[in-house]
Amino acid sequence: MENLRCLLFCVVISLSSCDAYKILAVFPMPSPSHGILGDNMVKHLLNAGHEVTYVTPYVQKQKNHTHLHLVDVNDIEIFFKAAGDMLDFKQILAGTVDLHDIKFMFQLLSTIADMTLGNPNVQRMMRDPQEKFDVIILEYMFHDLFSTFSAVFQCPYIWFSTIEPHWTIMNLVSGPMNPAYTTDYLQAQIPPFTFMGRVRELWTQIKGLYYHKFDFHDVEEAIYQKQVVPILKEQGKPVPDYNVLKYNASLLLGNSQVAMGNAVPLPPSYKHIGGYHIDEEVKPLPDSLNRDIIYAIEGVFHTAYSIPDGYPEAESKEEDNFLIKICLTDR
Ligand SMILES: *[C@@H]1O[C@H](CO)[C@@H](O)[C@H](O)[C@H]1NC(C)=O
Ligand SMILES: *[C@@H]1O[C@H](CO)[C@@H](O)[C@H](O)[C@H]1NC(C)=O
Repeated sequence: MENLRCLLFCVVISLSSCDAYKILAVFPMPSPSHGILGDNMVKHLLNAGHEVTYVTPYVQKQKNHTHLHLVDVNDIEIFFKAAGDMLDFKQILAGTVDLHDIKFMFQLLSTIADMTLGNPNVQRMMRDPQEKFDVIILEYMFHDLFSTFSAVFQCPYIWFSTIEPHWTIMNLVSGPMNPAYTTDYLQAQIPPFTFMGRVRELWTQIKGLYYHKFDFHDVEEAIYQKQVVPILKEQGKPVPDYNVLKYNASLLLGNSQVAMGNAVPLPPSYKHIGGYHIDEEVKPLPDSLNRDIIYAIEGVFHTAYSIPDGYPEAESKEEDNFLIKICLTDR
């Protein structure tokens, strides 16, 4: 009897110690800063003993790991470079390309989503009957299309938001945020707002909700029908309504930290994980830069923007100064 109890105890203990998951991480944005966020998310998951399948355009940069499986979506980066005209840094500075235009951003990002879902490696993964996951982590990039992976693998999914909490992502897990004191991600105003500022935020949100429900929805639904539904039908799986899928996230991880952002009301499904991508051991700054920062009387501002590979450095002093002026007047 004693032996049996001991055996039972051992069996229960060994079952509960087996808590590794099979996780699909989808981070296809062809931009180095997004690559850093994806790589470090995967690093933490692997360190915790999980088995990760990672959809990334940066396959070459990944270290070999027995529990890491890579799905290469490098062709998206090639597209992104070809679309260089659309995102030419000079044009952005000159204001001929409007990155505050939600329709333009949606067109660009939904094209990337379409290419990701249609990528031969991704299609092969979705068609493989052996592929099974316990959970999916999806980088949210202003369209809801990646939620359709959960229909293929029939498992729960988690959104990952790369920036501060904003109404578009919150709308997917609870409801839109109050435009009186939270800004739209493209408007990027800093509260407190003036009366006109509040009106503008409200108007932006009303327009955004309209597009999300009608125009953008139709584009996304068509991509879902084209790239994912045929696979579901082939495999005899149910074809969920796209409107149900996109609001079915189980959790939302945010690259934010309440100490550094605006304290706004958030639903319990939102978890701040800002700073996770920073290495445990941070290398010191080069001496000269460190000295400049310590002795800077006017203070220091830190800015980050990804310049496409091969784009030349600022060509002249004027261009440099122009950049600095923009950063100073923007914030
Ligand atoms: C990773 O593994 C592949 C195949 O097993 C091998 O060809 C490649 O050289 C390895 N890369 C590194 C960095 O160890
Ligand atoms: C929504 O998510 C739950 C929990 O993961 C799951 O049981 C359910 O099947 C999902 N519904 C659809 C339509 O995918």
